[in-house]
Amino acid sequence: MMSDENWKQRAQSSMVNAFGDPLACMVRGEGTHLYDSTGKRYLDFLGGIAVNSLGHAHPVFVDAVASQATVLGHISNFFVSPPQVELAERLLRLSGAENGGKVFFTNSGTEAVEAGLKLARLHANKYGKTKIIALEGAFHGRSMGALSLTSKAKYRDPFAPMLPGVIHIPATLDALEDTFDDDVAALFVEPIQGEAGVQQLPEGFLERARQLTDSHSALLIFDEVQTGAGRTGSWFAWQLEGVKPDALTAAKGLAGGFPIGALVVFSSCADLFYPGSHGTTFGGNPLATHTANEVLSYIESEGILANVKAQGEALRNGIMALESSSVKEVRGEGLLLGVELNEPVAPVVAKRAFDKGLIINAPSDRVIRLAPPLIISDDDVQEFLELFTLALEEPS
Ligand SMILES: Cc1ncc(COP(=O)(O)O)c(C=O)c1O
Repeated sequence: MMSDENWKQRAQSSMVNAFGDPLACMVRGEGTHLYDSTGKRYLDFLGGIAVNSLGHAHPVFVDAVASQATVLGHISNFFVSPPQVELAERLLRLSGAENGGKVFFTNSGTEAVEAGLKLARLHANKYGKTKIIALEGAFHGRSMGALSLTSKAKYRDPFAPMLPGVIHIPATLDALEDTFDDDVAALFVEPIQGEAGVQQLPEGFLERARQLTDSHSALLIFDEVQTGAGRTGSWFAWQLEGVKPDALTAAKGLAGGFPIGALVVFSSCADLFYPGSHGTTFGGNPLATHTANEVLSYIESEGILANVKAQGEALRNGIMALESSSVKEVRGEGLLLGVELNEPVAPVVAKRAFDKGLIINAPSDRVIRLAPPLIISDDDVQEFLELFTLALEEPS
């Protein structure tokens, strides 16, 4: 059998080095665990970065892909298919956009953001507006449009110039007040900034954002690529505070690992797109949409959102109860949690955890992100706490 090292070397010589050195070569997944090519077992508390909602090789996922593949895998967007229409209707219902909202399907989160940007441009051009606002710390993807909304200089600078008209402001109420005028076409917001280290917005931020976008006829667009599809214990994070957007993006966990994304446009601007204004070859194909329908339907019928809330709480309490002086706070919602450490050692802790068989990641120097499958059990939480304790304890 090929060794893990051998696979890693072959990967390095055959694929562009956009992701850095691979940690391992994974060959199999089962439930909440992954196995590398040496047979080493890992508890997966990152879930493909908030993607594997039902864990690995869940029978619902497996049956969905297999059964649809035998019937109808792909058609063009000259046609519609029952799974596509059913998923659009399901997403409108789950996201609260059922009264006149519309959906555009994509293959990824970035593409959903791109669709949102095009929506913002259509709105801007209709009313002669030029500005689009995003927040400092924001991550919206890395295509040229989405990258223009992403704030990190390290990601943006090598690819300058960015899209004109995009402004980044601090995530504060004052900055909102100072920036808004009638020239603003849209405000893009992640209800929780996942890549920035599971950062929550200040109290009242979304409510004020809604008031200001309304009073200046601008669109409020939530990027729920990471927070959507049940990750926070609500179907979409906007429902936690009750501030409704004009559009939202979803992707990651929607089909439990099958690539799919969506822009949900609420009734306020559902008719901006017109034939020819946007398109995609794969977006919304029967295989992806059927899988998403089955995954979402399972989450709904099995009460998985309640599990997300309960296990999120158990994790938060368990981590805060650890006898470790390393942990400062646990933040986030449901099963999107950020563990802030007192020292800037999160990458070291994540690596130590990996060596001990626990997959987590460090989106910043002081923060460990947890985004496990939504179906984790009490035993998984227990196993996590044991492994995480070991990763925290070992001297650096
Ligand atoms: C909030 C947010 N938007 C957009 C993206 C990009 O999504 P994708 O990687 O599926 O293109 C991500 C990915 O992490 C994200 O977290």
